[in-house]
Amino acid sequence: MRFPAEPFRIKVVEPIRFVAREERARLLEKAGLNIFLVPADSIYIDLLTDSGTSAMSDQQWAGLMVGDESYAGSRNFYRLEKTVRDITGYRHVIPTHQGRMAENLLFSAMVRRGQIVPNNCHFDTTRANVEAQGAEALDLVIEEGLDPVADHPFKGNVDVGKLDRLLSANGRAKVPLAMITVTNNSGGGQPVSMANVRAVREACGRYGVPLFLDACRFAENCWFIKEREPGYAEKSVREIARELFGLADGCTMSAKKDGLVNIGGFLAFNADALEEQVVNLLLRVEGFPTYGGLAGRDLEGMARGLGEVLDEDYLGFRVGQVRHLGETLDAAGVPSVKPVGGHAVYVDARRFLPHVPQAQFPGQVLVVELYREFGIRAVEVGSLMFGHKDPQTGQDVYPKLDLVRLAIPRRVYTSEHMRYVAESVIATHLRRESLRGLKLEYEAPVLRHFTARLREFEPAAAGT
Ligand SMILES: Cc1ncc(COP(=O)(O)O)c(C=O)c1O
Repeated sequence: MRFPAEPFRIKVVEPIRFVAREERARLLEKAGLNIFLVPADSIYIDLLTDSGTSAMSDQQWAGLMVGDESYAGSRNFYRLEKTVRDITGYRHVIPTHQGRMAENLLFSAMVRRGQIVPNNCHFDTTRANVEAQGAEALDLVIEEGLDPVADHPFKGNVDVGKLDRLLSANGRAKVPLAMITVTNNSGGGQPVSMANVRAVREACGRYGVPLFLDACRFAENCWFIKEREPGYAEKSVREIARELFGLADGCTMSAKKDGLVNIGGFLAFNADALEEQVVNLLLRVEGFPTYGGLAGRDLEGMARGLGEVLDEDYLGFRVGQVRHLGETLDAAGVPSVKPVGGHAVYVDARRFLPHVPQAQFPGQVLVVELYREFGIRAVEVGSLMFGHKDPQTGQDVYPKLDLVRLAIPRRVYTSEHMRYVAESVIATHLRRESLRGLKLEYEAPVLRHFTARLREFEPAAAGT
């Protein structure tokens, strides 16, 4: 067996529809070839995101029934607080409705105009929340982390030399905190090693700069440490997680990933002085600190999910399922980012469709084709998402990579579903030369990929 089979059996089923190809083509046309605008119930396998799409366990569903909806002092909050303290060791636990609110609270309390926040790679909401304070969000991932074919076990690592230079040139006055995202979502879901987190901790410690983890996928990261980092094979993932969190001063968390829930998050930290500031803001924008924008039942689901995600049978299956999809595509010659990350396989659309120029959105071409022919929803992470006009020169600026992300929801799809996905991508690769580029017909001034409308070039014009 290439990876462990599902360590769960199915008790409740949710039907998914395989609508006819003509209907899919019609829906795509109506959506302006934008997959965000296609209704989800017309999608067969939805790999748009791993965030908020997990299947909850019977224990989590049962937990909803013991939700205590008291405005203040809900028992579910105390349970969540204990769970997070046990896993992280942090004293203060502030629930939030999702990860970006934890970021908003943290940066509002700690970051000021003109300052710099370093990270391996900021996720887009993290970047937006840093920038909303008038500060700079600086990515310092190692060189290998930017190279789609470099094979490195911890491509999410921070370049500690660059961090050290930043800190020595600016000091704490200019760098109010440093962050590390585990795993590094914007860099392909690549893990960060314990040795790297320790080195960052030491560098930050020399300048008195606090370190926070963006911990959305902490359990997957810890599983990679157990698998790949010398000295960790015999440790439990729970022990590894405790060591990891122990190297930082706090964390932001979107529990929509490794919390195994559909909504929820938290901010956790040790500093007593930070608590008052955060709570005062929380009261204004989110709610009382024992519910933080969530129902009591959501807090219970999150507490139970955080326990379940550390189950090593689950993690072995989870990371193995994603890896197996990546390796199957690789064996068939489909170009993708190496090595496979924790939550998604990233197909390299520019190498997949070398005849489609960046200006014609090769990633989106592949996304459209996977839905029209196979009912699969993937997402473009490339020229459509990040391309823009340079405000000074008016020239089009394109990102370094055009990727198509196949994000795998947790505990949702079976190995047969994944085989279907692999065969569909491979079949598309075999007929790649027949695919045509796309032309943008409408774009919004910001975050254009959500609402853009496109159309296919006529055969003669494509690739020109
Ligand atoms: C690394 C990372 N940080 C932060 C967030 C934001 O979390 P949320 O969507 O719960 O606001 C995400 C969401 O995808 C993420 O992947």
